[in-house]
Amino acid sequence: MEDRINDLLGKLTLEEKVALTTGKDYWTTVAVERLGIPSIWLNDGPHGVRRPHSGSDIGLGDAKPATCFPTASALASSWDTALIETIGKALAGECHALDVQVLLGPGINIKRSPLGGRNFEYYSEDPHLTAALAVAFVNAVQSEGIGTSLKHYACNNQEFERMTISADLDERTLREIYLAAFEQVVKEARPWTVMASYNRINGVPATENSYLLTEILKEEWGFTGCVVSDWTAVNYKEKSLAAGMDLEMPGKGGIDDAKIAGLVREGLLNETVLDEAVRRILRLVLLAVQYRRPGVVYDQTAHHALARRAAGECAVLLKNEDNLLPLDANKLASLAVIGRFARDPRYQGAGSSQVTPTKLDAAYDELAKLLGSKTWLTYAAGYSESDSADETLIKEAVSTARKAEVAVIFAGLPPQYESEGFDRVHLDLPPAHNRLIEAVCAVQPNTIVFLANGSAVTMPWLNKPKAILEGWLGGQASGGAAADILLGLVNPSGKLAETFPYRLEDTPAFLNFPGEEDRVRYGEGLFVGYRYYDRKKITPLFPFGFGLSYTTFEYSNLKLNRDTISDHDVLQVGLSVKNSGPRAGREIVQLYLRDETASRVRPDKELKAFAKVALEPGETKTVQFSLTGRDFAFYDAAGRNWIIETGWFEILIGSSSTDLKLATKVYMDSQQRLKRHFHRLTPFKYFLSDDAAREIIRQTLGETPLVSVLLSGDLDQTLVNLLGNMPAIKMLDYTGGSISVTLLDELIDQINRQE
Ligand code: BGC
Repeated sequence: MEDRINDLLGKLTLEEKVALTTGKDYWTTVAVERLGIPSIWLNDGPHGVRRPHSGSDIGLGDAKPATCFPTASALASSWDTALIETIGKALAGECHALDVQVLLGPGINIKRSPLGGRNFEYYSEDPHLTAALAVAFVNAVQSEGIGTSLKHYACNNQEFERMTISADLDERTLREIYLAAFEQVVKEARPWTVMASYNRINGVPATENSYLLTEILKEEWGFTGCVVSDWTAVNYKEKSLAAGMDLEMPGKGGIDDAKIAGLVREGLLNETVLDEAVRRILRLVLLAVQYRRPGVVYDQTAHHALARRAAGECAVLLKNEDNLLPLDANKLASLAVIGRFARDPRYQGAGSSQVTPTKLDAAYDELAKLLGSKTWLTYAAGYSESDSADETLIKEAVSTARKAEVAVIFAGLPPQYESEGFDRVHLDLPPAHNRLIEAVCAVQPNTIVFLANGSAVTMPWLNKPKAILEGWLGGQASGGAAADILLGLVNPSGKLAETFPYRLEDTPAFLNFPGEEDRVRYGEGLFVGYRYYDRKKITPLFPFGFGLSYTTFEYSNLKLNRDTISDHDVLQVGLSVKNSGPRAGREIVQLYLRDETASRVRPDKELKAFAKVALEPGETKTVQFSLTGRDFAFYDAAGRNWIIETGWFEILIGSSSTDLKLATKVYMDSQQRLKRHFHRLTPFKYFLSDDAAREIIRQTLGETPLVSVLLSGDLDQTLVNLLGNMPAIKMLDYTGGSISVTLLDELIDQINRQE
């Protein structure tokens, strides 16, 4: 393929090359027919294919029908990479059938605040979980010959002023929290494209950010694919090309082309920069064409069934007092189904990801089908489309619920509460829903709340219903999945991929969201999600990783293959999990790592591995995890490197981030040392406390008055503190001219070169 690309590059005119770097229309690339370069389609994504009827049709809410699978926040709660692979392959099949070559997903931005309007399109607050799921997604879709687009690179964590806001954050937080999943997916799954986001990062737009696009993505991580802009994210084409942006989307009718060609002719834009972008675009187009499979037909019924199974795997059982759930269809005399969402489901979010479903299940209908005529099934809407409570509807719901043996309320966030394009302003359900839940619980002790929302919500009525299920935005078959779970045909096995706080004020970004004056400061740094709740000792409503089952599990037998490891070793961690309850079920076992002796601030613990284990009643299985050096590392911004420090690490095995069942320790004997990067403003005390630096100073400046006093060690402590905090450059002032700035710089260089 590279030969063909070189050949084409040699034959393309400057004008043709320039034209190739912008789309033809909303969804397709430019073709060069005389050289046999075709046009390809790039379409949303991520949880279904949104293929408009033509390239010039934006197709919002009016695309060709496709299966609407559970949205990303739902899928992430399954913690099930095998499930995501199956869905990825099904999505690829639909892409072939709809003649789409690149599916615009997955969205892997970290959920910095539960207010983020697009959180339903993203996986988690945790980079490890995000990366593991996204690797599965990208590998599966691409294994079927369809490209993916890893988006939105980077720090696109809110909708407020999303096209202009600058996400201001420190380098370590950028690497450990916001880039980590991008890094892993790029390295392990090689996505065909990465989508550069709308926002700025530390002042520089993502689409003009040569640090992110060229230095990190292409050079450091070795990305060979094509960087695609988010739609309309390019402002200055020449700056974007120079920074490493390859394909601008959508098309703009060629309005920039003459200018760009002119800049190349005048030598103001290097032609090699243009060639590199074209090379990557050609690579994408040729790959896509190589795998194009015209005439594919997919089985809509089978995909709908897969969507139902998936939604069942994603739901999280948050509460189940007195084992009210599952309901026994054979014994249940009457069931009151309350809430409009039972008949008019909320199953996906609005914006570019909105799929036109092939079919839509309503929970009420699916319950009716499964229960048959033995159970008296009743329904009351309970609320209208409005936020405010409608007392007539509530009265009717209360009377319906009172007469039944059990009531299930379908509640959640209406479409106007969460969407691409704006953030939420609070975490509450509409007053109409909260009021309905309170009123029904007051008359019906056996009440279940089944929620549909794309991100965490508050639950002021938490103690009232006996059972709560978080169903997320579960896709077109979520109604069927709800029925399966309520009646026990599916045992819930999802766990939260994001923390549910008691109140907005408890959330990590509360003081710095969504920013002002064009900037948002990531003031919480590394302490995002459970990392924050852990450190602040704030008890959340439901912690990260939490989810119940209709059965119970026991953990035992935690073993390591060694007690001491070095940074190049792989540590094997084994443990046993037993299903100690009455039903078959699936448990998500989580491994967290705690650095006990870090010389930098680190989170109390971090998720490093997980496994979803299926167990029959009474069955025990062994779970094996492997940890590598990188799992132990933190990012040293000054040295621009991942560092593994020597010391003790605790390995914690949990069924959630707060329910830790087993613990052990391993000693990391690392070859790496955390080195200070010395400079003119480094406080002098650090030169003295570093053996190598001290020795170099002693040899070169040992005789100089101030230095000799400091080195002697017999100084009054107050004086040592005062002098020690002075920056190195002050030596120039206090050594009577015996040290020049050149000498100081040479010394600093010499010290920094020390191993
Ligand atoms: C969204 C992207 C999407 C693109 C194309 C943008 O507004 O941010 O996620 O892929 O539109 O629809």
